[in-house]
Amino acid sequence: MTVCSLTNQFDATVSQLEQLADEVYRVRLECPPLAQAILPGQFLMLRMPQRNDPLLGRPFALYDTVGDPKQPTALDIGFHVVGKMTSLMETLQPGEQLEVWGPLGNGFPELETTHLLQVAGGIGYTPFVAVSREALLQKTYGTPARSGIRAERGTLIYGVKSARFAARMDDLADLSGKLDIEVCTEDGSTGYEGLVTGPLRRRLAERGNEPTTVLTCGPLVMMRVVAEICREFGVPCLVSLETPMACGFGACFSCVVPVVTGPDEWDYQRSCMEGPIFEAERIHWEQMMGKK
Ligand SMILES: Cc1cc2nc3c(=O)[nH]c(=O)nc-3n(C[C@H](O)[C@H](O)[C@H](O)COP(=O)(O)OP(=O)(O)OC[C@H]3O[C@@H](n4cnc5c(N)ncnc54)[C@H](O)[C@@H]3O)c2cc1C
Ligand code: FES
Repeated sequence: MTVCSLTNQFDATVSQLEQLADEVYRVRLECPPLAQAILPGQFLMLRMPQRNDPLLGRPFALYDTVGDPKQPTALDIGFHVVGKMTSLMETLQPGEQLEVWGPLGNGFPELETTHLLQVAGGIGYTPFVAVSREALLQKTYGTPARSGIRAERGTLIYGVKSARFAARMDDLADLSGKLDIEVCTEDGSTGYEGLVTGPLRRRLAERGNEPTTVLTCGPLVMMRVVAEICREFGVPCLVSLETPMACGFGACFSCVVPVVTGPDEWDYQRSCMEGPIFEAERIHWEQMMGKK
């Protein structure tokens, strides 16, 4: 276990802000060194310079890199307006400078499967843009480029409360024919009416012998149920946790989560260093939910 790693801090310049749905935005940050190093499932911490409120940085997952994949110059993050930092981000203008540090966290491991089934709740869909491009289009990430995730086909089951919160999916147009996107809304205003777990069960029941791997990101209660369903169907599942974080690089222990370390044993691990991606089976869900 690395005790604490000092990470790279950069000034990033905002070059674009696009609204994708009610309260959901994508912001483009010009920052070549970070864009060239970050991997799908990793994240960065973001702070507003010259502001003490909010004092702490906030974590945001890589949405995707921008430019020549071998030498990207920018990266996108997607965000949902929920509090102080994201309310300020909603008003960002091209040319504004932000403090960022990263890349952080372990990212999704390299893996091969036939069907990559991604289950997202709300803003938890953002890591799956880069993941899908890596797995289905062989887009490369990192310097030197890693071999990455490989799959023959992909599904994104994307749940939101209502249609107005469903992010536009035109960013994923280049994946058409390879990525099947199923939107679920709790109020039935578009797509499947109900929770993501309905389509997940259906697709796992229909999979036959097709090797399938599930990745999930979103609210904790959703990920717990996704993990239970995967266990029931005997399908491997990786979770991307969105545990609140203060430093992002291993120093403060604000982000610890209970992880199974052996038969009847568990211990806390830092989501920012040992995670945020964990095998679902390794999370001690009872302890985790009790803590929240
Ligand atoms: C690894 C990682 C990747 C993330 N990626 C993204 C991303 O790509 N896009 C995105 O929009 N958000 C992402 N998040 C969550 C984001 O960092 C928080 O929502 C952040 O706190 C927002 O800052 P804020 O100042 O606007 O809200 P705050 O003022 O910090 O919080 C507003 C409200 O949200 C609650 N809250 C804050 N953080 C969390 C959390 N992690 N889980 C549940 N409730 C929380 C607070 O208790 C408070 O009630 C990620 C978190 C992690 C750990
Ligand atoms: S956020 Fe500080 S140790 Fe993880």
